[in-house]
Amino acid sequence: MVNITVVGTGYVGLVSGSCLADFGNYVTCVDTDTIKIDNLKKGIIPIFESGLDAVVERNTHAGRLFFTTELAAAMKNSAVVFIAVGTPPAEDGGADLRYVEQVARKIGQHIEKYTIIVDKSTVPIGTARKVTQWVQDELDKRHTAVAFDVVSNPEFLREGTAVYDFTHPDRVVIGTESVSARKVMKEVYRALYLNETPYIETNLESAEMIKYAANAFLAVKIAFINQIANLCEKTGANVQDVAAAVGRDGRIGSKFLHPGPGYGGSCFPKDTQALAKIGREQGAPISIVETTIEANKRQKQLMIDKIERGFGGPGALPGKTIAVLGLAYKNNTNDMRESPAIIICEGLVERGARLRVWDPAAMQEASWRLEAIKSSVYFADSEYDAVQGSHALALVTEWNQFRNLDLARIKNTLLSPNFFDLRNVYKREEIEAAGLRYFGVGK
Ligand SMILES: NC(=O)c1ccc[n+]([C@@H]2O[C@H](COP(=O)([O-])OP(=O)(O)OC[C@H]3O[C@@H](n4cnc5c(N)ncnc54)[C@H](O)[C@@H]3O)[C@@H](O)[C@H]2O)c1
Repeated sequence: MVNITVVGTGYVGLVSGSCLADFGNYVTCVDTDTIKIDNLKKGIIPIFESGLDAVVERNTHAGRLFFTTELAAAMKNSAVVFIAVGTPPAEDGGADLRYVEQVARKIGQHIEKYTIIVDKSTVPIGTARKVTQWVQDELDKRHTAVAFDVVSNPEFLREGTAVYDFTHPDRVVIGTESVSARKVMKEVYRALYLNETPYIETNLESAEMIKYAANAFLAVKIAFINQIANLCEKTGANVQDVAAAVGRDGRIGSKFLHPGPGYGGSCFPKDTQALAKIGREQGAPISIVETTIEANKRQKQLMIDKIERGFGGPGALPGKTIAVLGLAYKNNTNDMRESPAIIICEGLVERGARLRVWDPAAMQEASWRLEAIKSSVYFADSEYDAVQGSHALALVTEWNQFRNLDLARIKNTLLSPNFFDLRNVYKREEIEAAGLRYFGVGK
């Protein structure tokens, strides 16, 4: 059992903190957002994440999980302080480290005893050394000497399955040069360590690189299958058959071979940008990632073109209403950060369409994310409300409830029978059998 503070109570901090408490540790989650902390104290979970409420409740009741806005007080009893704040993209494409720096400096201002400081946020290679410097700067200002170690422990959870991912990771990565920090980190993750979860110990820079390399590789895989899909459309091949057969090759694997509107979310777009920037700065450009970023941007535009073409081509969208199903960047989350749906909605409106949008979890976020086009958008109450008076349905995020739509009802409700399946959820035959025109991706 280890006493832990987790700073930042977002997707990663809240899931990490509550799951680490579930592993038997004593965890205090800290955030500067007072509303979030007040809500968490009342058991109100700020994000849509399957199973998280139960973990939070269980550990709060067991007296192992606490919430506060007071970092200094939380740190007093903690052997380990995790930094899990956001690292959003900066103007230049790099990661904006201002929140990480704020936390590191605050730790330096209040540290009183040996503490292990763990970078959980995704940060550029070299950041752990900066964190060390920021903490040391503050200690120097206090004319105080307190020993501390910095560890890089990147997080690989996926939104939508975050609790499962945190408790069943493919690997735990611990980057540090400190033998004592290594020992304590094994205690923190004892439940996983004993469970034979692959446990990779390495240096700071390698740990930081592992996270960027993993995310960039997955982004490349998505962009690759999207480009194959685009070529399939031109050549008469069916990308789903192609991906199924290619993915059977054990060296390739079947995951992340699903074409669609391009990747989004809070991680892949910013992490690929940041890695590409580091590559350029270091004189070791990662051109495959640069190309992936461009291909991914183009893919979203191709989806807008596809819908416009379905109506007859340029100039065909004014006077048309499109039902957009799914706004979150993926299913099972309310997160719309960098969601392809935003670009697609904005592009369709720019070309003259009106929209009726619906998402099972992201409607609140959509109300401000789609602010710029809101005069052309109706925020619907359900998928069937969205298709009311629409000339097409565009399925943009693959929520389970969209996998089993009442196609007869949709056919009868739509003003024109157009079905744009941007996630390849349906087979052409079943949509056509329902009397609808089918437009998929890569087939
Ligand atoms: N979201 C994911 O799926 C995911 C997965 C793996 C890694 N990551 C990485 O984890 C990090 C966090 O991502 P997230 O999605 O959880 O972010 P988030 O935006 O959901 O949460 C960040 C939290 O940090 C808080 N915060 C900011 N400054 C603070 C400060 N000075 N003191 C205390 N709290 C502060 C914010 O109020 C917010 O609640 C990022 O680096 C991200 O790249 C995210």
